[in-house]
Amino acid sequence: MTLSHIAAMAENHVIGNDGELPWDIPEDMRYFMNTTKDHVIVMGRKTFETLDKPLPRRLTIIITRQLGYKAEGCIVVKNLTEALEEAKKHIPPYPDEVFICGGGEIYKESLPIIDKIYLTRVYEEFDGDAYYPQVDFSKFKKVSQIDRDDPIPFSFEVYEAIRG
Ligand SMILES: NC(=O)c1ccc[n+]([C@@H]2O[C@H](COP(=O)([O-])OP(=O)(O)OC[C@H]3O[C@@H](n4cnc5c(N)ncnc54)[C@H](OP(=O)(O)O)[C@@H]3O)[C@@H](O)[C@H]2O)c1
Repeated sequence: MTLSHIAAMAENHVIGNDGELPWDIPEDMRYFMNTTKDHVIVMGRKTFETLDKPLPRRLTIIITRQLGYKAEGCIVVKNLTEALEEAKKHIPPYPDEVFICGGGEIYKESLPIIDKIYLTRVYEEFDGDAYYPQVDFSKFKKVSQIDRDDPIPFSFEVYEAIRG
């Protein structure tokens, strides 16, 4: 199984503010939707609650400490280990790559074990209350970068963990 982060972060590592994305970048939203389509996605309970409903064409695994938390059409688990065990049960039919979609707590906890990072860098600072963790990029190789400037400057970057 390939475990990947997919995240968009500001220069000051902000990823969210008051339960919302701090920016409106339609191309990044499309990138997220296209990249994760038809895959297993894992997210913290707060990130899940930022959605109106589960994203279609994806198997969503939600991590929460709340016993009895229910979300129609989703799998609810109590920690990251259980999330990955559940994900494995659904590969196949889902593809081998599983996406961790945030938020800050879940990114931080899973960082030591991820294989890949799809990182959108937004070249501005934003106020916020959720953060992407500090990454030791000497342990990753950048395999692609696409620069954009609409509506503000940002880049799509992909990193792979250096093993061994
Ligand atoms: N820019 C991006 O790419 C991006 C991506 C995703 C989210 N976001 C933003 O990030 C914000 C949400 O992130 P967040 O860090 O506040 O919350 P989060 O990580 O989405 O969810 C936190 C919740 O997950 C559960 N949880 C976390 N660690 C756990 C563990 N080890 N074991 C069991 N349950 C655990 C807990 O749920 P319970 O409280 O229910 O126990 C915790 O309150 C929002 O503003 C959202 O818009 C941004």
